[in-house]
Amino acid sequence: MAITTCIFDAYGTLFDVTAAAREAAAEPGAGKLADVWPRLAADWRLKQLEYSWLRAITGEHVPFWQVTKDGLDWALEAQGLGGDTALRDRLRALYWELSAYPEVESVLKALKAQGRHVAILSNGSPDMLAGAVESAGIGAMLDDVLSVESVGVFKPAAPVYAMVTDRFACARDEVLFVSSNGWDAAGAAGFGFVTAWINRAGLPMDRLGHPPHEMLTDLSAIPDIASAI
Ligand code: LAC
Repeated sequence: MAITTCIFDAYGTLFDVTAAAREAAAEPGAGKLADVWPRLAADWRLKQLEYSWLRAITGEHVPFWQVTKDGLDWALEAQGLGGDTALRDRLRALYWELSAYPEVESVLKALKAQGRHVAILSNGSPDMLAGAVESAGIGAMLDDVLSVESVGVFKPAAPVYAMVTDRFACARDEVLFVSSNGWDAAGAAGFGFVTAWINRAGLPMDRLGHPPHEMLTDLSAIPDIASAI
């Protein structure tokens, strides 16, 4: 079955989630953040994701912006920066305008030129995603931005992936799903999508079953892979 629909995870896949801490650390007066930003960025991301999984398990859903703020508070406190509300507010603001990775625009354009449906499927709340898409200037290359807020549970719950087949009226094996999160690629492959794991950080494969169909280090080869399937 040919790929009709190419779906991208947002945070870490299209948008650089470490950019907020890295950019704040480079600003004048960054103080301790200049040294600890890589650890803070990693803790922030990990806690944000942990809280999303735990809330999916317990059924206590909140919008992704809430788990993003909660993860940041944990990460700041872990570095002894919990009382720095100015820093907290700056990091929150930067998260709404994360940089896109350099290859994103050309890859999305190529997929659209191939006549495929192209969309985002993200845990992000619609307002956060709208901010990121606008600041990256990629709205014109997307047919839709699908947020888990429509189903009220986070990835990798199956109803999230089903939003794609519902929206584009396509079979599961017509979808190429692209994510930098190994657990997200595994969830999507388990659902029946063809998957590409963008292993930007050179990590070991997650032991969740459902290995990705492709493992890449960035998005550049996605248009060729979509054509070759
Ligand atoms: C997302 C997170 C998981 O965009 O990266 O859905």
